[in-house]
Amino acid sequence: MTDFHILLLPILLLKTFMTYTTGRNFTVGLLIPYTTPVTSSADLFGIRYAPASLLALENINNSTHLLPGHHLSLVWNDTKCDRNLALKALIYQIYEKRVDAVIGPACHCEVGARLANVENIPMISYVSGVIQIFYCTGFPAK
Ligand SMILES: *[C@@H]1O[C@H](CO)[C@@H](O)[C@H](O)[C@H]1NC(C)=O
Ligand SMILES: *[C@@H]1O[C@H](CO)[C@@H](O)[C@H](O)[C@H]1NC(C)=O
Ligand SMILES: *[C@@H]1O[C@H](CO)[C@@H](O)[C@H](O)[C@H]1NC(C)=O
Ligand SMILES: *[C@@H]1O[C@H](CO)[C@@H](O)[C@H](O)[C@H]1NC(C)=O
Repeated sequence: MTDFHILLLPILLLKTFMTYTTGRNFTVGLLIPYTTPVTSSADLFGIRYAPASLLALENINNSTHLLPGHHLSLVWNDTKCDRNLALKALIYQIYEKRVDAVIGPACHCEVGARLANVENIPMISYVSGVIQIFYCTGFPAK
């Protein structure tokens, strides 16, 4: 399930940004439990897969086929798998950094997904329990 989600991420992001026809710089927020494992899967430390996000965005930036004319930059925060910290970081990313989309927050996302939804920010969590996926993947009508 986890691998499936990670593979799906770039496709969902592309789908989100593809609707813009003129060149834009998008900011993507990454909420990641950097040195804290996701409780349900003891080996899922963010530090092991965080660089993949950066590489994926760099690949999209460099590509003349993926989102031509658009550029993606990344802001990230360590959630430490903590509900309140994740929400605080999401508030920072949405209202201070003005992110266009959020990847994460991985551990707990019911409240964060609601905030993203009311603010019309697409949010994709890359790891969650089966029931949580329902709450974690919010695609507001933009
Ligand atoms: C995006 O950012 C780059 C580098 O900062 C800049 O050269 C470019 O003009 C920006 N593009 C848009 C559409 O704002
Ligand atoms: C993508 O390109 C933009 C504009 O040139 C730059 O600001 C940003 O840092 C790049 N993002 C990554 C992940 O390399
Ligand atoms: C993107 O392009 C830069 C500059 O050409 C290069 O240094 C970097 O390795 C490229 N990144 C990827 C992920 O291909
Ligand atoms: C998020 O990260 C930025 C940049 O490192 C930092 O300034 C900010 O305090 C962090 N916010 C939270 C709530 O973690």
